[in-house]
Amino acid sequence: MSLRSEPGPSPASPSPPPLLCIADLAFRWRSGHPAIESCSLQIPRPGLWMLVGSNGSGKSTLLRLIAGLLQADGGTIHTALKPALVFQNPDHQLLLPSCGSDLQLGLPPGLSAGQRNARMLQALDQVGLSGLEQRPIHTLSGGQKQRLAIAGALASDAGLLLLDEPTALLDPESQREVLALIRQLCSRSERPLTALWITHRLEELDSCDAAARMEAGRAGPWLRAAQLRASLPPLPSGRAKR
Ligand SMILES: Nc1ncnc2c1ncn2[C@@H]1O[C@H](COP(=O)(O)OP(=O)(O)OP(=O)(O)O)[C@@H](O)[C@H]1O
Ligand SMILES: [Mg+2]
Repeated sequence: MSLRSEPGPSPASPSPPPLLCIADLAFRWRSGHPAIESCSLQIPRPGLWMLVGSNGSGKSTLLRLIAGLLQADGGTIHTALKPALVFQNPDHQLLLPSCGSDLQLGLPPGLSAGQRNARMLQALDQVGLSGLEQRPIHTLSGGQKQRLAIAGALASDAGLLLLDEPTALLDPESQREVLALIRQLCSRSERPLTALWITHRLEELDSCDAAARMEAGRAGPWLRAAQLRASLPPLPSGRAKR
């Protein structure tokens, strides 16, 4: 699949393996209800990749399978990147009282005290929260909390961000800020991130590299935003803008 008008690989330079490769994935809840069925999806390069789909189509379940929080019943998931989940509600993942202490919690082991401090300050800087290391988390705005959750993923060395409707609870300005932050992290020249972002806000599709539609536990092909929008059925009332 190629969505950009890039020259194809020459025979001498085979294309690199996908960053995420999901093949024929299957997952059933204990009740026997199948949430993911014959699901295949590849992310070929860094960037912002979005998933849309109706309620219950399996989007959140797929992210939890990629993150390793659930075990598949069949199929495979391969990625060379460290995954990190960012939830809809940042209060569900920010645990310690101050910004700095929360970030320290997620740092990889084996770092010196100086390295830990530097890593924490760098992560805050990358999400535009410099100077807030002592700030109590309950005093942050919703958008700042969400950016702190993203900083936690960066500090932990994650290369694959799995964002489950990260702007659903935010005001319009914070929504734009969080989306712009992820867009920038996925486009930077040095170590660009790979993000898989679930959304029900169709306007967010304009910021992605490509988007896929999930239905009945299966992901469709990557499409450009306009193509995907055109393929969607009319949304039920009350679901268009959240
Ligand atoms: N903990 C659970 N136990 C049993 N069934 C579950 C559980 N969580 C989700 N499901 C079911 O799995 C299916 C997929 O749910 P999932 O949350 O992945 O959908 P989704 O696409 O994220 O939906 P939404 O857009 O509403 O967030 C649904 O039928 C749902 O009811
Ligand atoms: Mg969901």
